[in-house]
Amino acid sequence: MLRNHLDPNNPLASRPTGFIERSVRWAQAVLELGEGSRILDLGCGPGLYAHRLARAGVKVVGMDVSSRSIAYAREVAKAEGLSVVFREGDYLKDAFGDTYDAAMLIYEDYCALSPQQRALLLRKIREALRPGGRFLFDIAGLDMLAGFSEGIVHEENLMGGFWAEPPYSGTHETWLYHDEQLVLERYTIRTESSERQFWNWMQCLTPGQVEDELVAAGLSVAQIYGDVAGSACQGRGASFAVLSTKDESYAGGFGPHEDSAGLGCRAPETRRQRQPHPLLCSAAGAQ
Ligand SMILES: C[S@@+](CC[C@H](N)C(=O)[O-])C[C@H]1O[C@@H](n2cnc3c(N)ncnc32)[C@H](O)[C@@H]1O
Repeated sequence: MLRNHLDPNNPLASRPTGFIERSVRWAQAVLELGEGSRILDLGCGPGLYAHRLARAGVKVVGMDVSSRSIAYAREVAKAEGLSVVFREGDYLKDAFGDTYDAAMLIYEDYCALSPQQRALLLRKIREALRPGGRFLFDIAGLDMLAGFSEGIVHEENLMGGFWAEPPYSGTHETWLYHDEQLVLERYTIRTESSERQFWNWMQCLTPGQVEDELVAAGLSVAQIYGDVAGSACQGRGASFAVLSTKDESYAGGFGPHEDSAGLGCRAPETRRQRQPHPLLCSAAGAQ
C-alpha cells in the first residue's frame, strides 16, 4: 500500500502529485492557514499533504492507522526537520489531543465509514476545532454508483500488485445497493502462504445529505466545491468537496445521555430547525 501512495502517477491510494500540489496550495488558502496555524490531517497516509503544509510553516498533526505509512512520514519529516507530528492511531477511537485551527480528511475516506462512525468522527472533529475552525473533506457523489457493476472478477496480481507483493491471485466481488446509495466490494487475496479478505464500502452521498450530517454534529457548510483543489462543483450527482466550519450556536456535544462511544446520540435541535444552505451549488435539493 505504501508503494502505491508513493507512486506519483498511481491514483489508487493517493491522488497524483500534481493534484496534491494544487490541493495543498488551495487548502492553505481556504482553511486560512498561516505560519504557525495548526491542522489535523486525519488518515494522513505517508504524509503527502502533511509534509507540504509543514514546509509552508503550518504546524501539522497527522494521524493514520497504518504503522508503515506513519514510519515513512516520520522519516521524511525528520530528514527535513519539519514541524509535524505523526501519530499512529485510529481516528474513530483515539483522542486528537489538542485544539486545531483546521482539520482535513482527504480522498473520500468519509464515504468508507458507517453512518454511526461518520457521526462520531464529525463530533470528535468539532470538539477538536477552535471556534470558527474549518474542516475540509471530499465525498463520492451519486454518479459514482453508475461506474460500478455487480459481479466477480478473478485475476492474477489483481490491480497490478496493489494488494500484495506479486505473485498472488485475487478475487474482486462487487454488490450494489442502489436504495442505500452504497457500493460494497470484497477483495480476497491469496498468496502461497496466506489468504486475506478486505471489505470496502463506499457510501455515495448528496451535498444535502452531507449537510444534514454536519449540522447534526454541530458543523455547518461554508461552501461546496468540485474537489479538494477548489474546482467548481459539477452539480447533482458528481463527487464534491465540502468546506465546513464549527457552528458556535450548536448546543450538543458528547452529553451524559450518550453511550461512551458517542454512538447513541440524538440529532440536536439545530438539525430540525435549519434552513437549506444557500451555497449548496446546483446539487441543492438532491436528497
Ligand atoms: C485512501 S488513503 C488516503 C491517504 C491520504 N489522505 C492521501 O490522500 O494521500 C486512506 C488512509 O486512511 C487511513 N485510515 C483508514 N481508516 C483509518 C482510521 N480509522 N484511523 C486512522 N487512519 C485511517 C489508511 O491507513 C490510509 O492511509
